[in-house]
Amino acid sequence: MKYILSPSLLASDFARLGEDANAAVRGGAEWLHIDVMDGMFVPNISFGGPVMKSLRPVTDAFFDVHLMIERPERYIDDFLAAGADLICVHLEATEKIREIADRVHEAGKSFAIALKPATPAEAVKEYLPLCDMVLIMTVEPGFGGQKFMADMMPKVSAIRTMREELGLHYHIQVDGGINLDNLPVVTEAGANVIVAGSAVFSKDQTEQNAKNFTARFQTL
Ligand code: DX5
Ligand code: ZN
Repeated sequence: MKYILSPSLLASDFARLGEDANAAVRGGAEWLHIDVMDGMFVPNISFGGPVMKSLRPVTDAFFDVHLMIERPERYIDDFLAAGADLICVHLEATEKIREIADRVHEAGKSFAIALKPATPAEAVKEYLPLCDMVLIMTVEPGFGGQKFMADMMPKVSAIRTMREELGLHYHIQVDGGINLDNLPVVTEAGANVIVAGSAVFSKDQTEQNAKNFTARFQTL
């Protein structure tokens, strides 16, 4: 299994966003996880398309954009224009899943659906053929640095089982509270794209922290 590290820039120092992103990439991160929060879908506000657009020329890393916003259909074109490689919307945030998936695919980019902890795997089943990735949240979305919810692992496994049954090929991503200790737990359950924020970004240690993850991938 090929594993991908997608460090969450929410945990970076926003005054040095470019440097922090590059440090994570030097440590082996192929993707960068970009958490967009609107203060409505989640009780926190982060940043939006203009910040992403400024970061785009700084790195060639794959931009994995996690939209924690109400009715994301309003902003899909903006995020595509700002350089998103993958757009992930919450199942709970929109009634326009098919429309969004089509728009993202027409632009030649990847589409994903995220599930909050209370949303069961079955809820996304009808949309799985549209997905390049499914994100299983392992914390309540809104804030970095929260405790990992191990009780989400059956949901990760269920999404993996559905992939086999349906003959599909989407990635399975986990996000929230992931560190080197619980990494084997999420990969055992079936996740292959690993988001980590506070476990990667820290002053002067970011490159090494990312390296520790990517080195551990070799042993899984
Ligand atoms: C939470 C975000 C996560 C978070 C991850 O709403 O979607 O991406 O920043 O950060 P850690 O790894 O610190 O839980
Ligand atoms: Zn996220």
